[in-house]
Amino acid sequence: MGYYVTTPIYYVNAEPHLGHAYTTIAVDVLARHMRQRGEDVFFLTGTDEHGEPVAQAAERLGMTPRELADKNAPRFRDMVGRLGATNDFFIRTSDPQHVEAVQRILQRVYDAGHVYLGTYEGWYCPRCADFKTEGELIEGNRCAIHKIALEREREENYFFRLSEFQEPLERLYGEQPEWVLPAGRYNEARSFIDQGLNDISLSRSSLTWGVPVPWDERHVFYVWFDALLNYYTALTYAADGDDLTERFWPPTVHVLAKDILKFHAVIWPALLMAADLPLPRRLFIHGYLLMDEEKMSKSLGNVIDPFEVIDLYGTDALRFYLFREVSFGGDGSVSPEGFETRYTTELANEYGNLASRALAMVARYRDGVVPEPDAAPAIAGDFEGLAEGVCDHFDRVDVSGALDETWQLVRRLNQWAQEEAPWQLAKDPAAADRLDTVLYGLVEGVRVVSVLLNPFLPEATERLLEALGRPELTMEAARFGAGGGFGEIAGFSPLFPKIERQPEPAA
Ligand code: MSP
Repeated sequence: MGYYVTTPIYYVNAEPHLGHAYTTIAVDVLARHMRQRGEDVFFLTGTDEHGEPVAQAAERLGMTPRELADKNAPRFRDMVGRLGATNDFFIRTSDPQHVEAVQRILQRVYDAGHVYLGTYEGWYCPRCADFKTEGELIEGNRCAIHKIALEREREENYFFRLSEFQEPLERLYGEQPEWVLPAGRYNEARSFIDQGLNDISLSRSSLTWGVPVPWDERHVFYVWFDALLNYYTALTYAADGDDLTERFWPPTVHVLAKDILKFHAVIWPALLMAADLPLPRRLFIHGYLLMDEEKMSKSLGNVIDPFEVIDLYGTDALRFYLFREVSFGGDGSVSPEGFETRYTTELANEYGNLASRALAMVARYRDGVVPEPDAAPAIAGDFEGLAEGVCDHFDRVDVSGALDETWQLVRRLNQWAQEEAPWQLAKDPAAADRLDTVLYGLVEGVRVVSVLLNPFLPEATERLLEALGRPELTMEAARFGAGGGFGEIAGFSPLFPKIERQPEPAA
């Protein structure tokens, strides 16, 4: 059974920001880790191009929706590349194969009797592409997320009989308490269902930018139905001439933020049941990156540009920072100062220096050849259970937990180096064996943590492991003492050099 993991597909109404980068990196870390375990991984990301969020933004810019999509989709694709993401496919919902597959699946849902024609009347947020209940509005009938005043809408829509899936969804939640993680989000989804489900709009007749409803071309599908189905349609055409659904459906885990919980945790499983397709095995819902206590979002104008961060600190540093600074699953603030601090104290001082010092000592005291000790170094014990612990965290999509567990070993190695003081041992010819053991222990320890850090810091760890002549990245290689010794070590430049900042212009 394959391991299939997805990000949400991002709206092309604006350029990518750090919030989008966040989910993409999290999924990439997971995908890389699972490949280390020998899993058959498929990693999907892409862009959501239809519906009002895009149509309205295009109108404001005096462009057609397609022009806007064609302008911004490549930016998301570039971002994915710059982040070092190893996605297997990038879907655009304007792909003709996607459009055709959406029509085919929703026609089946229609034919099975899950759809009827009705009239929608109520509040609608064009930025969320979501129909709001009175209770969800804030003062002045405004959207709680985008803070914009909403209009009351009345239009003829096709409706999806969501209410029919009340019981099947209750059963799903009852039988699978870990279907949604973390538990708080599971409770939130469950209580939404417990309040009683109403049927929802499946089509819009006031909009033309979307997938035409095949049985009534005056309508296009409501963008969320088109969007959610990307997770399925992508597999049907991602590999030329090869349908991947057998190999990868159902998804192992969908990763997303809490803003779109309801769509994924309630509507999506109901839609799949209606289409007679197996359900994803798990949803993981993470929190928000905040800037100055507010959700980072384009409409609030408080975004960080991931390209700028990468230009300054590099891709690895960004990948690392986000999961150290904010515990994955909760909300947390990020800031340029925070980047600077973690870069210097953790990446440069704790990990980068550890590697440089270990290799420099091998060069100085042993002519660049890592000694083979007679006895296992005492530090080996600290690595017992480490790889298993990291795997357990990743099985639960606890990306920060996996990083934290490994980072404790980075700190432990620094501490051990202080305790053993190889620079003192080097002065005493009678301590030569001991020095061999310590040098080997440090280099082997650095190697093991580097294998485990590889999903977070792919560039730095691969450079270091190359220099050690031990490039293996599998989980077997993440055991202390695995795969024998080292040869001569190649020289290498510091992993995380001091950042040369442009001085602030004088006021
Ligand atoms: N197009 C829909 C999703 C359809 S999925 C079938 C959409 N797009 S979006 O562009 O608004 O992206 C929302 C997602 O971007 C969030 O669920 C999250 O993954 C990511 N994030 C955007 N801003 C974020 C933060 N400030 N913090 C954390 N994640 C953020 O909704």
